[in-house]
Amino acid sequence: MISLIVAFDKHHLIGKDGWMPWDLKEDLKHFRSYTMNKSLLVGRNTFEGFKKPLPHRFHYVLTHRDLEIHDESVQVIHDIQEVVERFKGSDEELVVIGGAQIYKEALPYVDKMIISLVDGEFEGDTYFPDFNEKDFETVAIEEKEGFAVHTLVRKEC
Ligand SMILES: NC(=O)c1ccc[n+]([C@@H]2O[C@H](COP(=O)([O-])OP(=O)(O)OC[C@H]3O[C@@H](n4cnc5c(N)ncnc54)[C@H](OP(=O)(O)O)[C@@H]3O)[C@@H](O)[C@H]2O)c1
Repeated sequence: MISLIVAFDKHHLIGKDGWMPWDLKEDLKHFRSYTMNKSLLVGRNTFEGFKKPLPHRFHYVLTHRDLEIHDESVQVIHDIQEVVERFKGSDEELVVIGGAQIYKEALPYVDKMIISLVDGEFEGDTYFPDFNEKDFETVAIEEKEGFAVHTLVRKEC
């Protein structure tokens, strides 16, 4: 199973200067809780924004570069297909955690999206890619302080 987790505002803004445009501790807690003990697919830019790998999670870091990361919770990959094929149709969950480039490339394979819709408007430089909302059904909306968590699942063809 392949899922995707993101926080965006009503304009689908996700990033500013390599980090998020807002400071929402409650959303970081939600992110931590959803991703805990799972495998993550992350782009090199977003991964570099973390000070170190996220504890109790496995990271597939996508890059064109010949990166060496000596950490048993990290695997550097150069081909998104490699990972997608391993998880597609499997009971084990791969969570796509961004950023924008990785969301765009992974979206066609995503079964479920966990979207934090952040209240307010912000300035920034990175946006979630366009996607066809008709391909997904909203199955849950949970209101939180400063954002609401929308769960979308891909409609059966
Ligand atoms: N609001 C949220 O939920 C959220 C979540 C995540 C990230 N963000 C924000 O998004 C921004 C970063 O997004 P971004 O689009 O700049 O970067 P990104 O998607 O994190 O990483 C892009 C990098 O991934 C690698 N890559 C992409 N496609 C590849 C492919 N097909 N094969 C091999 N490598 C590939 C390349 O690395 P190389 O250059 O090394 O080749 C590329 O430069 C930051 O501001 C971050 O805070 C926000």
